Amino acid sequence: MAELETKKRVFSGIQPSGTFTLGNYVGAVRNWAPLQKEFDCIYSVVNMHAITVRQQPAALRRQTYEAAAMLLAAGINPKQSIVFVQSHVPQHTQLSWVLACNTMFGELSRMTQFKDKSQKHTENVNAGLFTYPVLMAADILLYGAHGVPVGEDQKQHVELARNIAQRFNNAYSDTFIVPEPYIQKIGGRIMSLQNPAAKMSKSDENINGFISMQDDADTIVRKFKRAVTDSEARVYRSKEKAGVSNLMDIYAAMTGKTDAEIEAEFEGKGYGDFKLAVAQSVIDVFAPLQQEHARILADKAELERILEDGAQRAQHLANKMLAKVYKKVGFV
Ligand code: TRP
Repeated sequence: MAELETKKRVFSGIQPSGTFTLGNYVGAVRNWAPLQKEFDCIYSVVNMHAITVRQQPAALRRQTYEAAAMLLAAGINPKQSIVFVQSHVPQHTQLSWVLACNTMFGELSRMTQFKDKSQKHTENVNAGLFTYPVLMAADILLYGAHGVPVGEDQKQHVELARNIAQRFNNAYSDTFIVPEPYIQKIGGRIMSLQNPAAKMSKSDENINGFISMQDDADTIVRKFKRAVTDSEARVYRSKEKAGVSNLMDIYAAMTGKTDAEIEAEFEGKGYGDFKLAVAQSVIDVFAPLQQEHARILADKAELERILEDGAQRAQHLANKMLAKVYKKVGFV
C-alpha cells in the first residue's frame, strides 16, 4: 500500500460512442495496460461526454459495457487499477461546474474539436458540446492525475485542463496537480483505409475505412484488400504514399518491425502480398483480444460488480478532492 501511494497517477477516458476501431486500440487502449507497472491508473468509460452528440440509449448502454470489457480484455487489471463508468461518480459534474466558472468563453471557443464537431453536427450545437473540455478537465483534476495518456487530437484539451488548474491554484491557493499529456507517438495516428488523409474513425460513413474490434478475419482481409494505395506497387515510406505509409504504420504497430525490415520483407512483391500480411498481423492480435472481450461480456453480473467496485473507489478519491475545492471557494 505504501508503495502504491508513492506512485504517480494517470487518468484517461474513452467514449462509448460506437464500436472500437483498430485506431482506438493502437492509439489508446493498448498503451493503457503497460502504464500500470509504473503508475497508479484510473480509467473511465466517459458516457457523459458521449451524449454531447446524440446517442441511441440502447446503443449507448451496450457500448458502455463493451468499452469497459475492452479495457479489461486489453489487460487492465481492475484489482490494481480503477475502472469505472463516468456517470457512476457524480463528483465529475459537481467539480465541472466550479471549473466552468473558472474557464473563459474565449478559451472554449478556440477548441478545435468544438469547431470541428459543431460544423459536423450543425443541427445539434448544444451547450454540452461547448463545455465538454471543462468536464474533461474535471475528470483529470478530480484525481490529481499527473499524466494523461491521449492521442494528439486531445492535447489541446489537456492543455486547457492545465490552464484551468493553474488559474484555480493562483486564485484559491495550491489545490490541483497540473497534469501533463502523455502523447502516444508510435501508431498514434492510424488513418482511414479509404482516405489516408483522415484519421481512422468509427463514425466514418464508409465502413471500409475502419477496422472494427468486432470485424471477423474475413472482413479484416476484405477491408485491407480494398485499402487505398497508389499505382507504384512498391512498399516504402514517403509523404506521397500516404496509403502505403499508413499500412506500414499498422504493420509496424502489430509486429514491432521497423520501416527498413518492412521494406526489405516486401522488396519485389506487390501490394497484394503486403495487404494480406498486414491483414494477418491484425488478425493475430485481434483474435485473442476478441475472445477475451466476448468472455468478459458473457458474464454481465461480474462485469457490473467490477464497475461498481471501481465507482466506489473512484468516489472515495473524488469526494476528498471535491470537499477541498468546495471549502476553498467558500461554499458553507
Ligand atoms: N475526450 C477524450 C476523447 O474523446 C475522452 C476523455 C474524456 C478523456 N475525459 C478524459 C481522455 C480525461 C483523457 C482524460 O478521446
